[in-house]
Amino acid sequence: MQRLTLTQHIRQAQLRHPGAQGELSSLLTQIGVAGKVISSKVNSAGLIDVLGSTGVINVQGEVVQKLDEVAEETMQDIVGRSGHVCALLSEERKSIMEIGEAWRGEYIVSYDPLDGSSNIDANVSIGTIFGIYRKKSKDPEVTRADWMRPGHEQVAAGYILYGSSTVFVYAAGDGVHCFTLDPAVGEYILSQENIRLTGACKQLSINACNAPYWDPWVHDWIGEIMKRNDQDKRRVSGRHIGSLVADFHRNLVYGGVFAYPADRRSPRGKLRLLYEAAPLAMIVEEAGGAASSGHGRILDIVPDELHHRTSLVIGTKAEVELAEKCVRDQVKEPAKG
Ligand code: AHG
Ligand code: MN
Ligand code: MN
Repeated sequence: MQRLTLTQHIRQAQLRHPGAQGELSSLLTQIGVAGKVISSKVNSAGLIDVLGSTGVINVQGEVVQKLDEVAEETMQDIVGRSGHVCALLSEERKSIMEIGEAWRGEYIVSYDPLDGSSNIDANVSIGTIFGIYRKKSKDPEVTRADWMRPGHEQVAAGYILYGSSTVFVYAAGDGVHCFTLDPAVGEYILSQENIRLTGACKQLSINACNAPYWDPWVHDWIGEIMKRNDQDKRRVSGRHIGSLVADFHRNLVYGGVFAYPADRRSPRGKLRLLYEAAPLAMIVEEAGGAASSGHGRILDIVPDELHHRTSLVIGTKAEVELAEKCVRDQVKEPAKG
């Protein structure tokens, strides 16, 4: 394969869109730079005293890890001063961060600076997830109309996964592409072009310890999938890391489905629409997969607040559709007892 850097690849895509000014290309490149900085901190976490928690509880009601804070500051410093954004929406911030005149641009970036916090201290894969919207309202300020939008209005989405290597994956209307960070030269190099998620579902990812709180449809859905394994042949395996971004990437590469359904403890779901579900939904759809709350397409949900949470089933299309069918059947026939 031709050795192509992320910047070259983005530039090639930009040339296919006459009229593009290069702003989005430059913004994606800057997000890549933020990813390199976070990656280097993650890789040396045990050496530079950034493991463990800060003792602070964030707006999500979760303990902020030191690396969460490092990642958040890095996104603000690099993406916030890219010259291409007017607002940042972060899982770690209570409200939106509007960018001042000096650095202001036309895009809005929503992100989870570090996904998979519970895995940080154990050297397990974590990542940064992002979605990009173009400012909508004519208002000079960033208004609710600019961010209370369905995910299908994203112009690009992606993630940087800090795993056994660091990879940058993005979708901007021209397929899903994966780049691996070459640590020797500090560049992302194209490693998988046009990833497709159209094969069989080989992996199922879910935190099964939430089972006592699930609605009946979740049991039905998992039962249907597990039934495919017979004495002679294993067709599907359970694989769950507990970092959405890492579970998602593995399922994208091998073929699989991830679910974090709403349950009696989190009636609206746990995962956040703007920072986690919507960006990954854009990527999965562009790869030929699907993402649903169980009641409909994730990309059609309009957030009713900044930290809107949602139930999520994401991955191979047939299994996402099966989940929706299980939800419908449950509604028709309420469980006894
Ligand atoms: P974050 O680290 O950004 O708070 O997100 C954690 C998310 C997600 O990565 C993961 O799939 C899920 O929360 C794990 O939650 P449980 O521990 O409830 O399974
Ligand atoms: Mn997260
Ligand atoms: Mn996070």
